[in-house]
Amino acid sequence: MSVSFENALYELYLEYFHKAEDRRRWNLQRDIPWAQVNRQPDAQIVQVVQSFMAVELYLPDYTSKILHLVRASRGRAWFQANWGYEESKHSLALEMWLVNSGSCSNDQIRDFEATILGREWNLPYHTPLEMIVYTTLQEFATALNYRGLRRVAENSQDPALAQALALLARDEVGHFQFFRDSLALYMKHDRDAALEALNKVIHTFRMPAQDIVPDWNAKGRLITALGIFNDRIFLREVVRPVLQSLGVSVLELRGARQRLAAADCIATPAVV
Ligand SMILES: [Fe+2]
Ligand SMILES: [Fe+2]
Repeated sequence: MSVSFENALYELYLEYFHKAEDRRRWNLQRDIPWAQVNRQPDAQIVQVVQSFMAVELYLPDYTSKILHLVRASRGRAWFQANWGYEESKHSLALEMWLVNSGSCSNDQIRDFEATILGREWNLPYHTPLEMIVYTTLQEFATALNYRGLRRVAENSQDPALAQALALLARDEVGHFQFFRDSLALYMKHDRDAALEALNKVIHTFRMPAQDIVPDWNAKGRLITALGIFNDRIFLREVVRPVLQSLGVSVLELRGARQRLAAADCIATPAVV
């Protein structure tokens, strides 16, 4: 990538970082009303929180593997380091809720961590462009997941969970915005390549949970049954708004798909 592209990306990172320092930082112990946690939580909510915590626990794989891929880009590498700090708080907040609500003992959490960390998450894509497309969609979807769980837990008399989920969702929106703005830079640089990457990732997208959460089939069914996330929500409430915020029309995306099909690189049904 050119020097001007990298400089613009670094400027985006600085903007992201200063905004986060000024307005978005939160304190795990002080900013969540732990004294108001519901000590008799709904069993389904506990299962969903455990699934989300499992995803957040893959931090060592996310940070090391993505950082290695983008190490030559100062903007992206520094972002990834800051992102790792923020994501580490997410697993801590979910873990604290599981323990403080009496859903899990500390020993159970340690066993759960050992099971999770015994598996490895691998990069779903292998170019910086495809990974930025993936993380743009995935961060938007993650914010939606936390907001969805907050909605499901609305009547559970648990201000601690509601506040934790609101803080996590706000961080995920911040992550989405950085990735979306970075992807917009890639689009300025080579719009066709970005559209092709968008096509590929949209058609092959899987949330990290699908590959790494133990007993995903049952947990995934529960998340679908609670209306938190499913394929339809992904298309309507993730893909469409993300494309819109990137200024990409369905028509333009189809054009790129046809070019790809003609080049015989990908042969997939149209979903958008
Ligand atoms: Fe997170
Ligand atoms: Fe995130």
